[in-house]
Amino acid sequence: MDPVVSRVRPSDASELKKIRLAALLDSPFAFGSTHEAEVQRTDQDWQVRAERSSAGSDSVTFLAWRDRTPIGITGGYRPEHSPEAVELVSMWAAPSTRRSGVGRLLVQAVIDWAIDTGSSSVGLWVTRGNEPAQRLYQSIGFRVTGEHQPLPSDPCKDEVRMVLVLDAR
Ligand SMILES: CC(C)(COP(=O)(O)OP(=O)(O)OC[C@H]1O[C@@H](n2cnc3c(N)ncnc32)[C@H](O)[C@@H]1OP(=O)(O)O)[C@@H](O)C(=O)NCCC(=O)NCCS
Repeated sequence: MDPVVSRVRPSDASELKKIRLAALLDSPFAFGSTHEAEVQRTDQDWQVRAERSSAGSDSVTFLAWRDRTPIGITGGYRPEHSPEAVELVSMWAAPSTRRSGVGRLLVQAVIDWAIDTGSSSVGLWVTRGNEPAQRLYQSIGFRVTGEHQPLPSDPCKDEVRMVLVLDAR
């Protein structure tokens, strides 16, 4: 069955918790946050997170599903200092599904949401050396800007900035 991507619903809070914690355990090098930090969140916190990102144009979470099982996640938000520029975060596809197009579907969902909500660009940080992710973003049109910063969850590592300008597409 083909994967389906949909915006998280308030009723998906427990699936959201499960897949986000699985992502943090599987790929700690890829994220600014940690499993240790997020496993402390209460079920009420996950409920609030699902509700906040299920509607509106401030933030969004998308889940990829196959046979009613979540197999991927990503999100986007509008930083307060530059609301026209969406940040793509939390991208993860379950290892058993990789190279089958789930990542591309998830990135496209954030791009479509950014366009629908009037954004001019989508930006992200990717850990230096994370070739699968960097190639995924490049294949969709994101370009390296030259900016970099320490990875918040492990400052020994470096994150590289990539941006997709929507006006130029
Ligand atoms: C990065 C990630 C989300 C990609 O997900 P995916 O579902 O495997 O990606 P897709 O199947 O949609 O791949 C789309 C394109 O990305 C590129 N790509 C993806 N994985 C790749 C790999 N291992 N090597 C080289 N290119 C790769 C290819 O161009 C691919 O197109 P192709 O298969 O037609 O050649 C997944 O590897 C992952 O979850 N990694 C761990 C978490 C992570 O790094 N998140 C990113 C945080 S910034």
